[in-house]
Amino acid sequence: MEVTPLAARSLSGLLEQSTGQQLVTGRRWRIETALQPVMRAHGITSLDQLAGMAVQPAAHNLRGEVVEALLNHETSFFRDLAVFRSLGAEGLDLLAQARADKRRLRIWSAGCSTGQEAYSIALLFAAKPERWEGWTIEILGTDVSPAAIAQAQGALYSQFEVQRGLPIGDLLARFDPEGESWRIKPQLKAKVTFQVHNLLDPAPAGQFDIILCRNVLLYFSAERRRMVLDRLAAAIAPDGLLMLGAGETVLGQTDAFQPDMALRGFYRPAA
Ligand SMILES: C[S@@+](CC[C@H](N)C(=O)[O-])C[C@H]1O[C@@H](n2cnc3c(N)ncnc32)[C@H](O)[C@@H]1O
Repeated sequence: MEVTPLAARSLSGLLEQSTGQQLVTGRRWRIETALQPVMRAHGITSLDQLAGMAVQPAAHNLRGEVVEALLNHETSFFRDLAVFRSLGAEGLDLLAQARADKRRLRIWSAGCSTGQEAYSIALLFAAKPERWEGWTIEILGTDVSPAAIAQAQGALYSQFEVQRGLPIGDLLARFDPEGESWRIKPQLKAKVTFQVHNLLDPAPAGQFDIILCRNVLLYFSAERRRMVLDRLAAAIAPDGLLMLGAGETVLGQTDAFQPDMALRGFYRPAA
């Protein structure tokens, strides 16, 4: 099915308005494939018709379905392993020293998709139980997508999903088999809370020691990306760590963060 420029603009406009995500022209092919199930479910025969219906003031639910279908939830456990290794080996040690009196750390995985990123962090802590004995570790995963958050809360992953990045030792020790899938054991699951949150809205309350915002801001306009990064800077502790995706940087985007010269791949709020 051909996607007319008008329908493409209107449908990608819905996505950008509610999430900040821009569907650049090269990714417009996604519109057709991604929206087929929504069209089938509503007996809609063309993208023009869908675009026309979705902009009606009362069509909240349909708009929600369009936005959900156009979001990209690509993720995996320990995505970009090197940066998780470096967090587990050095980053957490630095923060542990800095918080030795309070023995409390708050971590926010912003745009956590279906939860693998937040659970990867929980697995880093679980790997060193003696080190974190007596500490309060809060891990919050948020995403604009209610469907992604529902899967994260369910903590159930397919064989394909666990094969992507999860060490076999973690799978056997921290997951229970369930049919052809794997569910995270309650003890580990309880370490992470999830909630729906839009990065275009103010950050969740309180100060975070680590914020992960990875592969989310890639397709934001420069202006919105700067706005979100500035908000993250206001939500992070002065000595906190920001983790971005492997291909992302703050350089040229905002002055609110600067690269950590000692810890590659991490950013610190500017003094
Ligand atoms: C490509 S996934 C990346 C997931 C994970 N951070 C990673 O790097 O593996 C991007 C996620 O960001 C979410 N997202 C997009 N726009 C958002 C927004 N405005 N607020 C919160 N989450 C958003 C999407 O729903 C999606 O789950």
